[in-house]
Amino acid sequence: MHGDLPELEDLGDVRGRRVLVRTDFNVPMEDDGTGGRRVTDDFRIRAALPTIEWLRERGASVVCASHLGRPKGKPEAKYSMKPVADRLDELAPGVELLENLRFDAGEEANTEEFVARLIDGVDMYVDDAFGAAHRAHASIVGPPRFVPSAMGRLLAKEVEVLLALRERPRHPFVAVLGGSKISDKLGVVEALLGVVDSLVIGGAMCFTFLAAQGYPIGDSLFEPDQVDTCRRLLEGGKPIHLPEDITGVDADGKYATFGRRLPSGAKGFDIGPGSAAAFTDIIMEARTVFWNGPMGMFEDSRFAHGTRTVAQAMADTKAFTVVGGGDSAAALAQFGLEDSIDHVSTGGGASLELLELGVLPGLAALRKAPNVS
Ligand code: 3PG
Repeated sequence: MHGDLPELEDLGDVRGRRVLVRTDFNVPMEDDGTGGRRVTDDFRIRAALPTIEWLRERGASVVCASHLGRPKGKPEAKYSMKPVADRLDELAPGVELLENLRFDAGEEANTEEFVARLIDGVDMYVDDAFGAAHRAHASIVGPPRFVPSAMGRLLAKEVEVLLALRERPRHPFVAVLGGSKISDKLGVVEALLGVVDSLVIGGAMCFTFLAAQGYPIGDSLFEPDQVDTCRRLLEGGKPIHLPEDITGVDADGKYATFGRRLPSGAKGFDIGPGSAAAFTDIIMEARTVFWNGPMGMFEDSRFAHGTRTVAQAMADTKAFTVVGGGDSAAALAQFGLEDSIDHVSTGGGASLELLELGVLPGLAALRKAPNVS
């Protein structure tokens, strides 16, 4: 047991047992040019292999199940699990993979009937889908009500790292947040402000903070209804570092670097070089760093400098480094730096919710499994 959460060892003898493994194989895909689709990043598939191998080495028969994308409760060709199944078969030959769970409306609605179908013929359940553990969907919260259940190795590692960050980080602890919307991250920002020594803000969300400080932000993306909230956070006592310069385009659409004051008609798309250097210093001096959200529109090479510099600082610092999934993990992969980070979470929303609340529906469900209570 890990605290009060069951681990694979708590399943007892798995030989000859059929084990349903909920994985998060919601992976990026692209058209393969012949009318089909292919997986472009198999990070989440590889991340589930230790659990799958552990079970198979002990004689269990493994059936994996995952959602892919957001189909609306009925089959859609572009969300077929087939390309994922093909990749899984290369990595772990012979492992069964169910069709996309969200092809059935019972998954998101968490119906009794869909849970019953999922556990039909199944002896045990393993949750290794950290990236989906914040969803109270049938395949996440249903099976532990009926069959012996456990966390897989990936879920256990994610929980251990993220709860340690929340509960006993080594100081100085710095959180670097980016992305476009402060409103999406307000809960986690407030929770982090309780444990971090300082917060570093980049990405489009910095414009709402700069506006709260009275700086003109030109036509940059910002959330007017969050300005008061940002002002309250800035006055909360913990240091919040904002960019001192911004890269973007001027009113004529020409690439330009500005100070904190953006002229009218200008748009900011990245933190500037001075800010990237300042953020690097903060990351290098920390003993723990959590990073979630790009510093700018890094998909456009003109605006990738801030994100690339922060990613490089994360790779170079001696601090214990954790990166929340989603766009920041994609940026690390784009820059080839993922192997230099202590923990790259497979969950975007899930890692933020776990940091904010300390619990997720998937974890709460495992605590009530028949082999636990
Ligand atoms: C993710 O990619 O963040 C997870 O797979 C959850 O997907 P969802 O946001 O569609 O529930």
